[in-house]
Amino acid sequence: MSDKATLEINGQKHEFPLVTGTENEVAIDIKTLRGVTGGVTTVDPGYKNTGSCESAITFLDGEKGILRYRGYSIEELADKADFLEVAYLLIFGELPNAEELAKFHADIKKHAVVDDDIKKILDAFPKAAHPMGVLASLTSALTAFNPTSVNVDSEEEMYNAIVRILGKFPILVAWTMRKKHGMPLDYGSTSLGYVENILQMMFKRPDEDYTQNPILVNALDKLLILHADHEQNCSTSTVRITGSSHAGLFVSLSAGISALWGPLHGGANQAVLEMLEAIKEDGGDTKKYMAKAKDKSDPFRLMGFGHRVYKNFDPRAKIIKVAADEVLGDLGVEDPILDIAKGLEKEALEDQYFVDRKLYPNVDFYSGIIYRAMGIPTEMFTVMFALGRLPGWIAQWKEMRTRKEPIGRPRQLYIGETYRPFKEIEKR
Ligand code: CMC
Repeated sequence: MSDKATLEINGQKHEFPLVTGTENEVAIDIKTLRGVTGGVTTVDPGYKNTGSCESAITFLDGEKGILRYRGYSIEELADKADFLEVAYLLIFGELPNAEELAKFHADIKKHAVVDDDIKKILDAFPKAAHPMGVLASLTSALTAFNPTSVNVDSEEEMYNAIVRILGKFPILVAWTMRKKHGMPLDYGSTSLGYVENILQMMFKRPDEDYTQNPILVNALDKLLILHADHEQNCSTSTVRITGSSHAGLFVSLSAGISALWGPLHGGANQAVLEMLEAIKEDGGDTKKYMAKAKDKSDPFRLMGFGHRVYKNFDPRAKIIKVAADEVLGDLGVEDPILDIAKGLEKEALEDQYFVDRKLYPNVDFYSGIIYRAMGIPTEMFTVMFALGRLPGWIAQWKEMRTRKEPIGRPRQLYIGETYRPFKEIEKR
Protein backbone atom coordinates (compact mmCIF):
# COMPACT_ATOMS: atom_id res chain seq x y z
CA MET A 1 0.00 0.00 0.00
CA SER A 2 1.14 3.54 -0.76
CA ASP A 3 2.20 5.58 2.26
CA LYS A 4 0.41 8.69 0.99
CA ALA A 5 -3.15 9.80 0.31
CA THR A 6 -3.77 12.27 -2.48
CA LEU A 7 -6.51 14.86 -2.33
CA GLU A 8 -7.43 16.86 -5.39
CA ILE A 9 -9.14 20.23 -4.91
CA ASN A 10 -9.76 22.54 -7.87
CA GLY A 11 -7.30 20.57 -9.98
CA GLN A 12 -4.54 20.87 -7.41
CA LYS A 13 -3.17 17.70 -5.84
CA HIS A 14 -2.10 17.57 -2.22
CA GLU A 15 -0.40 14.64 -0.58
CA PHE A 16 -0.89 13.58 3.02
CA PRO A 17 1.03 10.88 4.86
CA LEU A 18 -0.72 7.65 5.81
CA VAL A 19 0.09 6.59 9.36
CA THR A 20 -0.26 3.01 10.54
CA GLY A 21 -0.97 1.98 14.12
CA THR A 22 0.47 -1.09 15.84
CA GLU A 23 -2.68 -3.07 14.94
CA ASN A 24 -2.34 -2.01 11.28
CA GLU A 25 -5.11 0.56 11.42
CA VAL A 26 -4.47 3.23 8.82
CA ALA A 27 -5.15 6.94 9.20
CA ILE A 28 -4.62 9.95 6.95
CA ASP A 29 -2.56 12.55 8.74
CA ILE A 30 -4.26 15.83 7.80
CA LYS A 31 -2.36 18.10 10.19
CA THR A 32 -1.21 20.25 7.26
CA LEU A 33 -4.56 20.30 5.43
CA ARG A 34 -5.60 23.90 6.08
CA GLY A 35 -2.11 25.21 5.50
CA VAL A 36 -1.55 23.59 2.12
CA THR A 37 -5.09 24.05 0.80
CA GLY A 38 -5.51 27.65 1.88
CA GLY A 39 -8.03 26.98 4.63
CA VAL A 40 -10.06 23.98 3.47
CA THR A 41 -11.32 22.05 6.47
CA THR A 42 -13.18 18.77 7.10
CA VAL A 43 -16.75 18.28 8.31
CA ASP A 44 -17.49 15.16 10.34
CA PRO A 45 -20.42 15.56 12.77
CA GLY A 46 -20.13 13.19 15.69
CA TYR A 47 -16.48 12.58 14.67
CA LYS A 48 -17.55 9.34 12.99
CA ASN A 49 -14.38 9.33 10.86
CA THR A 50 -12.04 11.45 12.92
CA GLY A 51 -9.19 10.18 15.04
CA SER A 52 -8.74 12.88 17.67
CA CYS A 53 -5.42 11.55 18.95
CA GLU A 54 -2.88 8.75 18.87
CA SER A 55 -3.29 6.58 21.93
CA ALA A 56 -1.52 3.55 23.38
CA ILE A 57 -4.13 2.65 26.00
CA THR A 58 -7.07 0.71 24.55
CA PHE A 59 -7.48 -1.17 21.27
CA LEU A 60 -10.93 -1.83 19.94
CA ASP A 61 -11.90 -3.59 16.72
CA GLY A 62 -15.61 -3.03 16.30
CA GLU A 63 -15.92 -5.38 13.31
CA LYS A 64 -14.33 -8.32 15.06
CA GLY A 65 -15.60 -7.49 18.56
CA ILE A 66 -12.12 -7.15 20.09
CA LEU A 67 -11.34 -5.04 23.16
CA ARG A 68 -7.89 -4.91 24.75
CA TYR A 69 -6.41 -2.74 27.49
CA ARG A 70 -2.68 -2.16 26.85
CA GLY A 71 -2.66 -5.31 24.72
CA TYR A 72 -4.42 -7.62 27.22
CA SER A 73 -7.80 -9.01 26.17
CA ILE A 74 -10.85 -7.91 28.11
CA GLU A 75 -11.86 -11.56 28.49
CA GLU A 76 -8.59 -12.47 30.25
CA LEU A 77 -8.57 -9.35 32.39
CA ALA A 78 -12.17 -9.87 33.51
CA ASP A 79 -11.36 -13.48 34.35
CA LYS A 80 -7.96 -13.15 36.01
CA ALA A 81 -7.27 -9.60 37.19
CA ASP A 82 -8.83 -7.41 39.84
CA PHE A 83 -10.00 -3.85 39.31
CA LEU A 84 -7.04 -2.18 40.97
CA GLU A 85 -4.57 -4.15 38.84
CA VAL A 86 -6.50 -3.10 35.74
CA ALA A 87 -6.53 0.53 36.92
CA TYR A 88 -2.74 0.39 37.34
CA LEU A 89 -2.35 -1.24 33.93
CA LEU A 90 -4.42 1.40 32.20
CA ILE A 91 -2.78 4.33 33.94
CA PHE A 92 0.86 3.22 33.97
CA GLY A 93 0.96 0.86 30.97
CA GLU A 94 2.03 -2.41 32.63
CA LEU A 95 0.45 -4.90 35.02
CA PRO A 96 1.86 -4.23 38.49
CA ASN A 97 3.94 -6.82 40.32
CA ALA A 98 2.84 -7.69 43.87
CA GLU A 99 5.02 -4.99 45.43
CA GLU A 100 3.88 -2.26 43.03
CA LEU A 101 0.25 -3.21 43.55
CA ALA A 102 0.60 -3.18 47.34
CA LYS A 103 2.23 0.26 47.25
CA PHE A 104 -0.41 1.59 44.84
CA HIS A 105 -3.19 0.39 47.12
CA ALA A 106 -1.46 1.70 50.25
CA ASP A 107 -1.03 5.13 48.62
CA ILE A 108 -4.67 5.20 47.57
CA LYS A 109 -5.75 4.33 51.09
CA LYS A 110 -3.73 7.24 52.48
CA HIS A 111 -6.00 9.54 50.48
CA ALA A 112 -9.28 7.77 51.20
CA VAL A 113 -10.73 10.69 53.16
CA VAL A 114 -12.40 13.90 52.03
CA ASP A 115 -12.70 17.25 53.76
CA ASP A 116 -15.64 17.15 56.16
CA ASP A 117 -17.04 20.30 54.53
CA ILE A 118 -17.89 18.18 51.48
CA LYS A 119 -20.81 17.01 53.64
CA LYS A 120 -22.17 20.56 53.71
CA ILE A 121 -22.19 20.67 49.92
CA LEU A 122 -23.90 17.30 49.80
CA ASP A 123 -26.46 18.49 52.34
CA ALA A 124 -27.45 21.36 50.07
CA PHE A 125 -28.71 18.98 47.39
CA PRO A 126 -32.36 17.95 47.47
CA LYS A 127 -32.87 14.22 48.07
CA ALA A 128 -34.48 13.98 44.64
CA ALA A 129 -31.30 15.15 42.87
CA HIS A 130 -29.98 12.63 40.37
CA PRO A 131 -26.81 10.98 41.76
CA MET A 132 -24.89 11.75 38.54
CA GLY A 133 -25.46 15.48 38.97
CA VAL A 134 -24.38 15.24 42.60
CA LEU A 135 -21.29 13.19 41.74
CA ALA A 136 -20.21 15.62 39.01
CA SER A 137 -20.60 18.54 41.42
CA LEU A 138 -18.74 16.87 44.28
CA THR A 139 -15.90 15.79 42.00
CA SER A 140 -15.56 19.35 40.77
CA ALA A 141 -15.78 20.62 44.36
CA LEU A 142 -12.75 18.50 45.29
CA THR A 143 -10.72 21.08 43.38
CA ALA A 144 -11.64 23.69 45.98
CA PHE A 145 -10.23 21.50 48.72
CA ASN A 146 -7.13 20.47 46.73
CA PRO A 147 -6.42 23.68 44.85
CA THR A 148 -2.79 23.23 43.84
CA SER A 149 -2.51 22.44 40.15
CA VAL A 150 -0.53 19.37 39.16
CA ASN A 151 2.82 19.89 37.52
CA VAL A 152 2.42 17.33 34.78
CA ASP A 153 6.18 17.24 34.18
CA SER A 154 6.67 15.84 37.67
CA GLU A 155 6.02 12.10 37.81
CA GLU A 156 5.64 12.37 41.56
CA GLU A 157 2.97 15.08 41.40
CA MET A 158 1.14 13.20 38.67
CA TYR A 159 1.23 10.02 40.76
CA ASN A 160 -0.02 11.85 43.85
CA ALA A 161 -2.94 13.38 41.96
CA ILE A 162 -3.87 9.94 40.63
CA VAL A 163 -3.84 8.10 43.98
CA ARG A 164 -5.66 11.04 45.56
CA ILE A 165 -8.65 10.83 43.22
CA LEU A 166 -8.69 7.01 43.30
CA GLY A 167 -8.89 7.27 47.10
CA LYS A 168 -11.54 9.96 47.28
CA PHE A 169 -13.85 9.06 44.40
CA PRO A 170 -15.39 5.92 45.97
CA ILE A 171 -16.29 8.00 49.04
CA LEU A 172 -18.16 10.47 46.85
CA VAL A 173 -19.92 7.59 45.09
CA ALA A 174 -20.96 5.97 48.37
CA TRP A 175 -22.05 9.25 49.95
CA THR A 176 -24.09 10.18 46.89
CA MET A 177 -26.11 7.01 47.40
CA ARG A 178 -26.26 7.14 51.20
CA LYS A 179 -27.46 10.73 51.26
CA LYS A 180 -30.29 9.85 48.90
CA HIS A 181 -31.34 7.01 51.19
CA GLY A 182 -30.95 8.98 54.42
CA MET A 183 -28.01 6.86 55.58
CA PRO A 184 -25.24 8.37 57.74
CA LEU A 185 -22.06 9.29 55.88
CA ASP A 186 -19.14 7.17 56.82
CA TYR A 187 -15.65 6.28 55.68
CA GLY A 188 -14.52 2.83 54.64
CA SER A 189 -11.88 0.69 56.23
CA THR A 190 -8.19 0.61 55.33
CA SER A 191 -8.12 -3.12 56.08
CA LEU A 192 -10.31 -3.95 53.10
CA GLY A 193 -9.61 -4.48 49.42
CA TYR A 194 -10.53 -1.61 47.08
CA VAL A 195 -13.76 -3.19 45.86
CA GLU A 196 -14.74 -4.66 49.25
CA ASN A 197 -14.32 -1.20 50.71
CA ILE A 198 -16.61 0.31 48.08
CA LEU A 199 -19.32 -2.22 48.91
CA GLN A 200 -18.97 -1.62 52.63
CA MET A 201 -19.09 2.15 52.18
CA MET A 202 -22.22 1.84 50.08
CA PHE A 203 -24.17 -0.72 52.06
CA LYS A 204 -23.02 -0.77 55.69
CA ARG A 205 -25.94 -0.08 58.01
CA PRO A 206 -25.20 2.01 61.09
CA ASP A 207 -26.62 -0.64 63.42
CA GLU A 208 -24.76 -3.72 62.21
CA ASP A 209 -21.41 -4.98 60.92
CA TYR A 210 -21.17 -5.41 57.18
CA THR A 211 -20.43 -8.94 56.03
CA GLN A 212 -18.71 -9.21 52.68
CA ASN A 213 -20.39 -11.45 50.14
CA PRO A 214 -17.75 -12.84 47.73
CA ILE A 215 -20.39 -13.12 44.97
CA LEU A 216 -21.00 -9.37 45.13
CA VAL A 217 -17.29 -8.58 45.37
CA ASN A 218 -16.51 -10.68 42.27
CA ALA A 219 -19.47 -9.30 40.36
CA LEU A 220 -18.56 -5.68 41.08
CA ASP A 221 -14.88 -6.31 40.34
CA LYS A 222 -15.81 -7.73 36.94
CA LEU A 223 -18.27 -4.94 36.10
CA LEU A 224 -15.75 -2.26 37.01
CA ILE A 225 -13.06 -3.92 34.89
CA LEU A 226 -15.40 -4.17 31.91
CA HIS A 227 -16.19 -0.46 32.15
CA ALA A 228 -12.64 0.71 32.89
CA ASP A 229 -11.80 2.15 29.48
CA HIS A 230 -13.19 2.30 25.98
CA GLU A 231 -10.86 4.56 24.00
CA GLN A 232 -12.21 7.86 22.63
CA ASN A 233 -15.88 7.62 23.62
CA CYS A 234 -17.99 10.70 24.45
CA SER A 235 -17.02 11.09 28.12
CA THR A 236 -13.35 10.21 27.58
CA SER A 237 -13.10 12.69 24.73
CA THR A 238 -14.72 15.22 27.06
CA VAL A 239 -12.11 14.53 29.74
CA ARG A 240 -9.29 14.88 27.22
CA ILE A 241 -10.64 18.03 25.63
CA THR A 242 -11.38 19.67 28.99
CA GLY A 243 -7.90 18.80 30.23
CA SER A 244 -6.37 20.03 26.98
CA SER A 245 -7.05 23.61 28.13
CA HIS A 246 -4.83 22.66 31.12
CA ALA A 247 -7.86 22.59 33.40
CA GLY A 248 -7.09 20.30 36.35
CA LEU A 249 -7.70 16.58 36.67
CA PHE A 250 -10.70 16.80 39.01
CA VAL A 251 -12.67 19.26 36.87
CA SER A 252 -11.79 17.32 33.73
CA LEU A 253 -13.21 14.21 35.40
CA SER A 254 -16.29 16.14 36.46
CA ALA A 255 -16.87 17.13 32.83
CA GLY A 256 -16.52 13.46 31.87
CA ILE A 257 -19.11 12.45 34.47
CA SER A 258 -21.58 14.94 32.99
CA ALA A 259 -20.97 13.59 29.48
CA LEU A 260 -21.42 10.02 30.71
CA TRP A 261 -24.81 10.84 32.22
CA GLY A 262 -26.69 11.01 28.90
CA PRO A 263 -28.88 8.04 27.91
CA LEU A 264 -27.01 7.51 24.64
CA HIS A 265 -23.82 6.90 26.66
CA GLY A 266 -23.49 5.67 30.27
CA GLY A 267 -27.03 6.69 31.16
CA ALA A 268 -28.19 3.81 28.96
CA ASN A 269 -27.78 1.32 31.83
CA GLN A 270 -30.48 3.11 33.82
CA ALA A 271 -32.58 3.57 30.68
CA VAL A 272 -32.34 -0.18 29.88
CA LEU A 273 -33.69 -1.17 33.24
CA GLU A 274 -36.49 1.38 33.07
CA MET A 275 -37.33 0.11 29.58
CA LEU A 276 -37.40 -3.53 30.71
CA GLU A 277 -39.56 -2.57 33.69
CA ALA A 278 -41.95 -0.68 31.40
CA ILE A 279 -42.20 -3.71 29.11
CA LYS A 280 -42.95 -5.93 32.10
CA GLU A 281 -45.61 -3.53 33.40
CA ASP A 282 -47.10 -3.45 29.91
CA GLY A 283 -47.62 -7.23 29.97
CA GLY A 284 -44.22 -8.31 28.64
CA ASP A 285 -45.08 -7.75 24.98
CA THR A 286 -41.55 -7.48 23.54
CA LYS A 287 -42.86 -7.49 19.96
CA LYS A 288 -44.67 -4.20 20.58
CA TYR A 289 -41.41 -2.56 21.72
CA MET A 290 -39.45 -4.05 18.84
CA ALA A 291 -41.96 -2.43 16.48
CA LYS A 292 -41.62 0.90 18.30
CA ALA A 293 -37.82 0.73 18.03
CA LYS A 294 -38.06 0.24 14.28
CA ASP A 295 -40.71 2.92 13.73
CA LYS A 296 -38.88 6.06 12.53
CA SER A 297 -41.74 8.29 13.67
CA ASP A 298 -41.38 6.97 17.23
CA PRO A 299 -38.44 8.36 19.24
CA PHE A 300 -38.20 5.08 21.20
CA ARG A 301 -34.93 3.20 20.74
CA LEU A 302 -34.08 -0.19 22.09
CA MET A 303 -31.82 0.93 24.91
CA GLY A 304 -28.69 -1.16 25.38
CA PHE A 305 -28.58 -1.93 21.67
CA GLY A 306 -26.26 -0.52 19.04
CA HIS A 307 -22.87 1.06 19.31
CA ARG A 308 -20.90 3.65 17.39
CA VAL A 309 -17.92 1.36 17.02
CA TYR A 310 -19.11 -2.23 17.49
CA LYS A 311 -20.73 -3.66 14.40
CA ASN A 312 -20.56 -7.07 16.01
CA PHE A 313 -21.17 -8.35 19.54
CA ASP A 314 -19.84 -5.97 22.17
CA PRO A 315 -17.37 -8.34 23.89
CA ARG A 316 -18.27 -6.78 27.23
CA ALA A 317 -21.94 -7.65 26.71
CA LYS A 318 -21.04 -11.31 26.13
CA ILE A 319 -19.17 -11.46 29.45
CA ILE A 320 -21.89 -9.57 31.31
CA LYS A 321 -24.66 -11.82 29.99
CA VAL A 322 -22.91 -14.88 31.41
CA ALA A 323 -22.17 -12.99 34.64
CA ALA A 324 -25.84 -11.98 34.97
CA ASP A 325 -26.89 -15.63 34.90
CA GLU A 326 -24.18 -16.59 37.39
CA VAL A 327 -24.77 -13.74 39.84
CA LEU A 328 -28.54 -14.09 39.88
CA GLY A 329 -28.13 -17.87 40.25
CA ASP A 330 -25.57 -17.55 43.05
CA LEU A 331 -27.67 -14.98 44.88
CA GLY A 332 -30.82 -17.02 44.34
CA VAL A 333 -32.54 -14.04 42.70
CA GLU A 334 -35.25 -14.68 40.15
CA ASP A 335 -35.81 -11.56 38.14
CA PRO A 336 -38.44 -11.73 35.40
CA ILE A 337 -36.80 -8.85 33.57
CA LEU A 338 -33.79 -11.09 32.83
CA ASP A 339 -36.13 -13.26 30.77
CA ILE A 340 -37.59 -10.19 29.06
CA ALA A 341 -34.04 -9.02 28.24
CA LYS A 342 -33.10 -12.41 26.80
CA GLY A 343 -36.32 -12.49 24.78
CA LEU A 344 -35.68 -9.02 23.37
CA GLU A 345 -32.10 -9.90 22.51
CA LYS A 346 -33.18 -13.05 20.67
CA GLU A 347 -35.83 -11.18 18.68
CA ALA A 348 -33.49 -8.31 17.83
CA LEU A 349 -30.71 -10.62 16.65
CA GLU A 350 -33.16 -12.31 14.26
CA ASP A 351 -34.83 -9.12 13.07
CA GLN A 352 -33.85 -7.74 9.65
CA TYR A 353 -33.86 -4.10 10.87
CA PHE A 354 -31.28 -4.90 13.56
CA VAL A 355 -29.33 -7.32 11.35
CA ASP A 356 -29.06 -4.75 8.52
CA ARG A 357 -27.83 -2.05 10.87
CA LYS A 358 -25.54 -4.42 12.77
CA LEU A 359 -27.17 -3.57 16.08
CA TYR A 360 -26.06 -5.90 18.88
CA PRO A 361 -26.48 -5.72 22.66
CA ASN A 362 -23.93 -3.40 24.22
CA VAL A 363 -22.32 -3.31 27.67
CA ASP A 364 -25.35 -1.62 29.19
CA PHE A 365 -27.92 -4.21 28.17
CA TYR A 366 -27.32 -6.69 31.01
CA SER A 367 -25.26 -4.68 33.51
CA GLY A 368 -28.30 -3.10 35.19
CA ILE A 369 -29.80 -6.52 35.87
CA ILE A 370 -26.68 -7.46 37.84
CA TYR A 371 -26.57 -4.12 39.67
CA ARG A 372 -30.20 -4.55 40.63
CA ALA A 373 -29.57 -8.08 41.93
CA MET A 374 -26.71 -6.61 44.00
CA GLY A 375 -29.14 -4.19 45.65
CA ILE A 376 -27.88 -1.09 43.84
CA PRO A 377 -30.68 1.40 43.14
CA THR A 378 -31.45 2.08 39.46
CA GLU A 379 -30.47 5.75 39.68
CA MET A 380 -26.99 4.70 40.84
CA PHE A 381 -26.25 2.53 37.78
CA THR A 382 -24.55 5.29 35.80
CA VAL A 383 -22.60 6.28 38.90
CA MET A 384 -21.27 2.71 39.00
CA PHE A 385 -20.26 3.09 35.35
CA ALA A 386 -18.38 6.30 36.31
CA LEU A 387 -16.63 4.44 39.13
CA GLY A 388 -15.46 1.82 36.67
CA ARG A 389 -14.48 4.35 34.00
CA LEU A 390 -12.41 6.44 36.44
CA PRO A 391 -9.04 4.73 35.70
CA GLY A 392 -9.66 5.02 31.97
CA TRP A 393 -10.40 8.74 32.23
CA ILE A 394 -7.29 9.22 34.37
CA ALA A 395 -5.11 7.23 31.95
CA GLN A 396 -6.41 9.19 28.97
CA TRP A 397 -5.98 12.54 30.73
CA LYS A 398 -2.43 11.57 31.74
CA GLU A 399 -1.58 10.44 28.21
CA MET A 400 -2.97 13.65 26.73
CA ARG A 401 -0.98 15.84 29.13
CA THR A 402 2.29 13.90 28.95
CA ARG A 403 2.17 13.81 25.15
CA LYS A 404 1.77 17.59 25.29
CA GLU A 405 -1.27 17.52 23.06
CA PRO A 406 -2.48 20.93 21.87
CA ILE A 407 -5.74 22.41 23.10
CA GLY A 408 -8.74 20.59 21.56
CA ARG A 409 -10.48 23.07 19.32
CA PRO A 410 -12.42 21.67 16.35
CA ARG A 411 -13.26 23.75 13.29
CA GLN A 412 -16.72 24.21 11.78
CA LEU A 413 -18.32 25.01 8.48
CA TYR A 414 -20.29 28.21 8.99
CA ILE A 415 -23.77 28.04 7.42
CA GLY A 416 -25.38 31.12 9.01
CA GLU A 417 -26.21 34.57 7.67
CA THR A 418 -23.50 36.45 5.80
CA TYR A 419 -22.77 40.04 6.85
CA ARG A 420 -25.80 42.26 7.37
CA PRO A 421 -25.94 45.74 8.84
CA PHE A 422 -27.32 46.19 12.37
CA LYS A 423 -31.08 46.93 12.45
CA GLU A 424 -32.27 49.51 14.97
CA ILE A 425 -34.85 48.11 17.45
CA GLU A 426 -37.72 50.25 16.08
CA LYS A 427 -37.10 48.88 12.59
CA ARG A 428 -37.27 45.18 13.52
N1 CMC B 1 -32.75 1.07 18.55
C1 CMC B 1 -33.28 1.25 17.33
N2 CMC B 1 -32.58 1.71 16.26
C2 CMC B 1 -31.29 2.01 16.45
C3 CMC B 1 -30.67 1.85 17.70
C4 CMC B 1 -31.45 1.35 18.78
N3 CMC B 1 -30.90 1.19 19.98
N4 CMC B 1 -29.38 2.24 17.62
C5 CMC B 1 -29.19 2.63 16.35
N5 CMC B 1 -30.35 2.48 15.64
C6 CMC B 1 -30.53 2.75 14.21
C7 CMC B 1 -30.62 4.24 13.93
O1 CMC B 1 -31.93 4.69 13.97
C8 CMC B 1 -30.02 4.31 12.55
O2 CMC B 1 -30.99 3.86 11.63
P1 CMC B 1 -31.05 4.48 10.13
O3 CMC B 1 -29.74 4.12 9.50
O4 CMC B 1 -32.23 3.82 9.51
O5 CMC B 1 -31.23 5.96 10.31
C9 CMC B 1 -28.90 3.26 12.57
O6 CMC B 1 -29.34 2.30 13.55
C10 CMC B 1 -27.53 3.81 12.98
O7 CMC B 1 -27.66 4.46 14.23
P2 CMC B 1 -26.96 5.82 14.62
O8 CMC B 1 -27.78 6.50 15.66
O9 CMC B 1 -26.65 6.60 13.38
O10 CMC B 1 -25.59 5.30 15.21
P3 CMC B 1 -24.62 6.08 16.17
O11 CMC B 1 -23.31 5.45 16.02
O12 CMC B 1 -24.72 7.56 15.94
O13 CMC B 1 -25.25 5.82 17.65
C11 CMC B 1 -25.71 4.78 19.71
C12 CMC B 1 -24.78 4.82 18.50
C13 CMC B 1 -25.09 3.90 20.80
C14 CMC B 1 -25.88 6.20 20.29
C15 CMC B 1 -27.09 4.21 19.29
O14 CMC B 1 -26.93 2.89 18.81
C16 CMC B 1 -28.12 4.25 20.41
O15 CMC B 1 -28.79 5.27 20.60
N6 CMC B 1 -28.27 3.11 21.19
C17 CMC B 1 -29.16 3.11 22.34
C18 CMC B 1 -28.47 3.79 23.53
C19 CMC B 1 -27.39 2.90 24.15
O16 CMC B 1 -27.59 1.73 24.40
N7 CMC B 1 -26.23 3.53 24.44
C20 CMC B 1 -25.12 2.85 25.11
C21 CMC B 1 -23.90 2.71 24.23
S1 CMC B 1 -22.71 1.54 24.90
C22 CMC B 1 -22.17 2.24 26.37
C23 CMC B 1 -21.30 3.40 26.17
O17 CMC B 1 -20.10 3.21 25.88
O18 CMC B 1 -21.78 4.53 26.30
